[in-house]
Amino acid sequence: MNDVSAVPVAPAEAASAPAVTASVLVVDHPLVQHKVTLARSEETTTDNFRRLVREISQLLTYEATRDLPMETIAIKTPIAPTQSPVLAGKKLCLVSILRAGNGFLDGMLELLPAARVGHIGLYRDPETLEPVEYYFKMPEDIRERMVIVVDPMLATGNSAIAALNRLKESGVTMLKYVCLIASRPGLNALRAAHPDVAIVTAAIDEELNEHGYIVPGLGDAGDRLYGTR
Ligand code: URA
Repeated sequence: MNDVSAVPVAPAEAASAPAVTASVLVVDHPLVQHKVTLARSEETTTDNFRRLVREISQLLTYEATRDLPMETIAIKTPIAPTQSPVLAGKKLCLVSILRAGNGFLDGMLELLPAARVGHIGLYRDPETLEPVEYYFKMPEDIRERMVIVVDPMLATGNSAIAALNRLKESGVTMLKYVCLIASRPGLNALRAAHPDVAIVTAAIDEELNEHGYIVPGLGDAGDRLYGTR
């Protein structure tokens, strides 16, 4: 793993960033990087792509939950009583940005079966190019939960920023963002808008093309997950 909290931020954005800046973690573990390469390849079939995204999401979840609070409980093994650590019951909510975020959820829920799930749907207004919300469904107690927002592709950052704005307006204070590939411009924009939100990703790609796709990226994650193109 590679903690790049010092990841370069565009100068104007850096100047306006508050003092407390959460980390950006690029998970450079060989297993993750191998699977990201397979997922990037255009030769990877839909079923393999879906499996790879599920596996990568689990490996990223492992890192994203590394700082969850623990407590010690008394148990008895077949041999002896002992004190042993468990999660301290911090309530988690995974929030998927539709639709590709759902490709991340399945794997994460296998590791975090008690987590609640929220969904946010956003589309890009063709005139203003701004994200417009069409769906927002969260657990009632969302403000008490630690929220991990998931979307495989952090491209321009507009959807991520809008989703985090909306969650903060709903009272959420503990937030992380997990993606498979972040573009450098999207990462800079997200960190400028939400410097308090820790980001976990498997890769940072330098560019976006004129259609807003990450270069080299992996194409349209939703289409590749669901075989819609
Ligand atoms: N969304 C995707 O699915 N892929 C990109 O490259 C950018 C946004």
